[in-house]
Amino acid sequence: MTKIADYRPSEGHPPIDGPTTRSWCDLTREIRACRRCPLGSQREHAVVYRGGSRPWLVFVGEAPGSQEDREGRPFVGRGGRILDRAIEDAGLGEGEFGILNLLKCRPPKNRFDPGAARACRPFLDRQLQLLQPTCLVPLGRYALRALDPTAPPIMQAAGTARAPTSGPLVFPLIHPAASLRSHAMASRWRSDVLRLRAWVAEQRPQST
Ligand code: URA
Repeated sequence: MTKIADYRPSEGHPPIDGPTTRSWCDLTREIRACRRCPLGSQREHAVVYRGGSRPWLVFVGEAPGSQEDREGRPFVGRGGRILDRAIEDAGLGEGEFGILNLLKCRPPKNRFDPGAARACRPFLDRQLQLLQPTCLVPLGRYALRALDPTAPPIMQAAGTARAPTSGPLVFPLIHPAASLRSHAMASRWRSDVLRLRAWVAEQRPQST
């Protein structure tokens, strides 16, 4: 099998995180070359994935912001600092988790773009197929809707585990950036992260 180390990252892109397989590497390159929707020609970088090569839990955000667009990595701005802290607080170790977004390119004014999300959806599905996580953490309402269409609204669903009719278990959280909106949202975020910690301890595979 061709290993990721055999590939050179394309000029200007960050190294490829994730599985060390040819199919993952090819998918990453395909995303980086994508022009399926207008966002593809407006971005600086496509934002594919950061995290372990065999994560059992994957965080799914909405769309890259300006810092992510500059660096080509998900959640590396202000929201990323909040998320990284939550990951630590949830007791997740390096290699156990991965982070990706519904949209791989930054939408103008950071406004979520449902048309782009439809065009991008096959990439999300292929990423999850290759990563094979047993647990997903959708961040915010768009990610929740995409991963668990019959879930109640995010403020009702966040902080409680769900088992969709098929696929991985889901533990929704409000979007990390939403925790900056008010004291009430910050405190909701903190208490949901504590609940995530307990769920992580229950769900962690034996071999991790
Ligand atoms: N918000 C997201 O949903 N994703 C990112 O990568 C950054 C901010």
